[in-house]
Amino acid sequence: MQKPKGTYDVYGEKARKIQYLEKLLASLMEKYHYQYMRTPIFEASELFHRGVGETTDIVSKETYDFKDRGNRDMTLRPEGTAGIVRSFIENKLYGEASQPIKAWYLGPMYRYERPQSGRFREFYQFGVETFGSNDPALDAEVISIPVNFYRLLGLKGIKVNINSLGDNDSRNRYREALLDYFKPHLENLCEDCQKRYQKNPLRILDCKVDANLDIMKHAPKLQDYLNEESRKHFDQVKKYLEALGIEYVVNPNLVRGLDYYTYTVFEVEASVEGFGSQNVLCGGGRYNNLVETIGGPSTPGVGFALGFERLLTALEFEEITLGDEDYLDAYVIPVTSDQKCEALSLTQALRLSGFQVDTDYMNRNMKGNFKASTRFLANYVILIGEEEIKSNILTVKDNHSKEEFKVALADIVSFLDHMSAEDETYGCDCDDDTCHGHCH
Ligand code: HAM
Repeated sequence: MQKPKGTYDVYGEKARKIQYLEKLLASLMEKYHYQYMRTPIFEASELFHRGVGETTDIVSKETYDFKDRGNRDMTLRPEGTAGIVRSFIENKLYGEASQPIKAWYLGPMYRYERPQSGRFREFYQFGVETFGSNDPALDAEVISIPVNFYRLLGLKGIKVNINSLGDNDSRNRYREALLDYFKPHLENLCEDCQKRYQKNPLRILDCKVDANLDIMKHAPKLQDYLNEESRKHFDQVKKYLEALGIEYVVNPNLVRGLDYYTYTVFEVEASVEGFGSQNVLCGGGRYNNLVETIGGPSTPGVGFALGFERLLTALEFEEITLGDEDYLDAYVIPVTSDQKCEALSLTQALRLSGFQVDTDYMNRNMKGNFKASTRFLANYVILIGEEEIKSNILTVKDNHSKEEFKVALADIVSFLDHMSAEDETYGCDCDDDTCHGHCH
């Protein structure tokens, strides 16, 4: 049996990296004052048709659709925004006292795309969605999240592209201009674009088939159709980005592949040479009509999502390693199988006191167990033999200096605590009682 095309398994080093990134994101989100949200992986198909848009590639070509046993049309979510908006409406979060609502999420998304490097059929996104504020400062905050996250990780080769799609009025005027412009060229456009012309001419500009046609290059530019209000919003976003120290490039061709955007759109790309064609690390923007489109009260929103797979590739590309290797505070060895119960009980007690501890499950001999403790990067080895049980005094070996200590069973927690505080390789002075110097 093999995994489905476009999917991958996570284990070993990759698993460790992903967990590190997830923890870092959760802690960054606390600092930004965003709350965690989780919605189902499948939703009624209609949600994505209405939310993401019928004419987008994502909905028209790439969804995983199925009928459930009750004959309902269901879809594996191709992205996170529509589900979060559905939940925002269904749970009446617009009625909460603390506004704006600022939420983050993380999970698998599904798109039936042609798999290639950086493009999967099951991929993981981290994203944020905010509701209830039209303040351009919030657009800037949302853009700052991935940028600061990438900076924290040490990524250098990134470029922030921004653009404005304007409000409804600007977009309607632009739509008219596009209809007029493309009308005489209709037969030169691909079949999909001819459909897009009827339903959503803006999508024509995002077409991968017609991208290099001359008529595309000379199409009217959205910037020229922005009204006063939209232009002002965009100017303020730029001003706030500058206040936050975020460098950006205005890219008038940036339209994004989903239909729900209004005003600000942005993407962050890996700008290092040789990265490959799937170099968009994240994207997002404002969607002031989406809540209403999905059936809620008119509510402005802005958010973004980043893909984990391309992030991991970018980290590898810039040769950035994440955090420390796995290690153990202690490895507990029963001298013979007669002390197995005591070894298990001590292992459990130390774990519940907050230490990272393991013991032998392979029935190794003493030499094998010491080898294992080195492989597991254990700082200390704790021996429990007949003698130790009788005297209630444990034999503890420092795995680095090879020094040996006799420690009363009742004092083992304070001993490990004390030793880890002394060890300069630990070096954390946070207030968490269970950290024992390992909180990075
Ligand atoms: P998106 O641009 O479709 O936006 O996806 C966001 C990110 O997900 C991309 O920049 C990329 O890193 C990753 N991604 C997308 N498709 C794949 C794939 N097939 N394989 C690997 N990674 C992929 C959205 O999904 C919007 N919901 C973002 C948003 C949130 N806008 C407002 N709020």
